[in-house]
Amino acid sequence: MTSKADAAGKGTVTVTLDGTNRSTTLPLLSGTLGPAVVDIRKLYGDLGIFTYDPGYGATASCESTITYIDGDAGVLLYRGYPIEQLAERSDYIEVAYLLMYGELPTARQLEEFRRGVTYHTMLHEQLRRFFDGFRRDAHPMAVMCGVVGAMAAFYHDNLDINDPRQREIAAFRLIAKVPTIAAWAYKYSIGQPFMYPRNDLSYAENFLYMLNAVPAEPWVNNPILSRAMDRILVLHADHEQNASTSTVRLAGSTGANPFACIAAGIAALWGPAHGGANEAVLKMLAEIGRPENIPAFINGVKDKNSHTKLMGFGHRVYKNFDPRAKIMKETCHEVLAELGIKDEPLLDIAMELERIALSDEYFISRKLYPNVDFYSGIILKAMGIPTQMFTVLFAVARTVGWVSQWKELIEDPSQRIGRPRQIYRGPAQRDYVPLDVRG
Ligand code: CMC
Repeated sequence: MTSKADAAGKGTVTVTLDGTNRSTTLPLLSGTLGPAVVDIRKLYGDLGIFTYDPGYGATASCESTITYIDGDAGVLLYRGYPIEQLAERSDYIEVAYLLMYGELPTARQLEEFRRGVTYHTMLHEQLRRFFDGFRRDAHPMAVMCGVVGAMAAFYHDNLDINDPRQREIAAFRLIAKVPTIAAWAYKYSIGQPFMYPRNDLSYAENFLYMLNAVPAEPWVNNPILSRAMDRILVLHADHEQNASTSTVRLAGSTGANPFACIAAGIAALWGPAHGGANEAVLKMLAEIGRPENIPAFINGVKDKNSHTKLMGFGHRVYKNFDPRAKIMKETCHEVLAELGIKDEPLLDIAMELERIALSDEYFISRKLYPNVDFYSGIILKAMGIPTQMFTVLFAVARTVGWVSQWKELIEDPSQRIGRPRQIYRGPAQRDYVPLDVRG
């Protein structure tokens, strides 16, 4: 394979099949930032070969203008804006607007958007009955998959994916209603009455209200905690073509309705290698139990046969540091100080794990650093949010990212159904053998 690129990154790659005189020249594409990308679309037609990239570590599946990550430099940009600036100076609703529409809003646009989202926060009353069908001990992520998917049965008026206005209303509904569904999944599990959304509160405040308030008592907002919640939402709002976003896009490429697509994303997020990691971090800390058990745990992590991972560490793309983790770490200390938490054994274990992992050759050589979920789990625990809700919270935050990526996919004229190929290693064609003559 030979490549030629000019200073602008444009150029070609020529692929020659060894031992033949067959070759093809493929275009080299370049984005605003990031490495050049070989456009292999005509490779199979020209040479009759596929590419192989399990886990898609070297494959760009789409063009996108939404989020950019430089894993080596620890950079995360939403529509070009650094995550540090957005976490410090913006809020979730403004970030949601930015992700959906590509630009920061004017004051009027922001107000209209805020109104548009809050207008849709209530659920169809009939949807409320869905919750009764679940066992009280159901994992809230199971409830989320079910109820978000079921939204397609309730909002028929915005299922035409080819109508831009219907797409927008579906997006508003998803962003607005997902916190209500999440909070009700939690209330159901603890047997408390559902709290209806309050549109006088901010997105983060309303979510905390629906999670924590009860009808019997007034609810008091703690600005430090709602700010921390808002920051968690901002930091998790989008993350380029990760597993759940790619799932949403793959489902969307079939023409499935947006509610079905987001339910598919929620299912993919649930796994412990992805959004389930924040819950897994807390489980791991509880299993370790005491700081003196850490060395044995770390030895287990290094032993390939134990299949134990240090949860909250490592990332497919970030190989230097996760910029979200840096911000989360600061927020974590703010929240713990506000709540007056000094002697939290799980926190001591977490800090000791972090110290060991950052100085241990095994983790250093593999470029394994704490990721966003390492600290978000600790913050949420300190805020009294039950462990099972951690991944749900991630799903609430990521809904706007999924919705924006889904909209971008549908609006991309080059989009086709997603359909990867494979290396088939099963038996070659053979004839059926009747039962009575099989050995
Ligand atoms: N603990 C111990 N070893 C690890 C870990 C870990 N957390 N992560 C990776 N490794 C090792 C892995 O065994 C491999 O070692 P070797 O080269 O000796 O075979 C090496 O590091 C490279 O790992 P990999 O499996 O090729 O990395 P990946 O890019 O496929 O996986 C990951 C990325 C995030 C799935 C993985 O690091 C992991 O499972 N981490 C723990 C779960 C976690 O915290 N996930 C949240 C990610 S951030 C939130 C989100 O975006 O969803």
